[in-house]
Amino acid sequence: MSLNNQVEKTVKVYPNNESASIYVAQRIALLINQKKIQGEKLILGLATGSTPKLVYRELIRLHRYEGLSFRHVVTFNLDEYYPMQPVDEQSYSAFMNANLFDHVDILSENIHIPNGTLSMEQVEAHCDLYEKKIKDFGGLDLQLLGIGRTGHIGFNEPGSELHSATRLVTLNDITIEDAIMDFGSRERVPKQAITMGIKTITQAKEIILLALSQRKAEIIHQALEGMISAGVPATYLQQFKNVEYVLDQEAASRLTR
Ligand code: PGA
Repeated sequence: MSLNNQVEKTVKVYPNNESASIYVAQRIALLINQKKIQGEKLILGLATGSTPKLVYRELIRLHRYEGLSFRHVVTFNLDEYYPMQPVDEQSYSAFMNANLFDHVDILSENIHIPNGTLSMEQVEAHCDLYEKKIKDFGGLDLQLLGIGRTGHIGFNEPGSELHSATRLVTLNDITIEDAIMDFGSRERVPKQAITMGIKTITQAKEIILLALSQRKAEIIHQALEGMISAGVPATYLQQFKNVEYVLDQEAASRLTR
């Protein structure tokens, strides 16, 4: 069986961003509830950006109206800008609070987001500790991913290695350009970030890569149908069986197979 056949089996295309996002939220809710029945916590890797917003909105709705509880959910976010204060509006901490955590019953001690406030000298030990904490919880049960126009997952920009772990990285120009809207000007966009590595991500028991809108059509084509290469880090996922690609019709529009 070719790799592409393998990929084909795990691509789900939905008519629009809302139906794709509701599917992902329901998958997460199902896993939370399955773990709860087993008396275990769900270790959940989370993403930021515009892509997961509707997923989080649906999770909040499930919490409010359908009894979904996050008390036994432990989260690890993929990344954070560096340097960055959690109180800053553009921080991924603030994003997660506004879009999910403030609206559900998650315990604050169960939330993990890379710390963008540390000095350069402290960063490496922090990254090692982030990896250790994930391992101590038995690894990520599910990692939710978006994809950047560079093909990054987390902030693993082109050139990232398959065996990379959580670390400080330099952002690609296209990624900086895409962040200008949030920060107001190019100068204000941090040039670096702390991100889980490709290895950290691919060790998750399950991975869902969500891509929405026409903006992602070209990179989704490359990520799923292109050669596996460090030039498009999302192509690394082709080698793993536990990856599900959830797309809306626009993001899937350039797929040929
Ligand atoms: P976006 O970013 O969801 O804002 O498009 C995705 C990403 O960069 O991973």
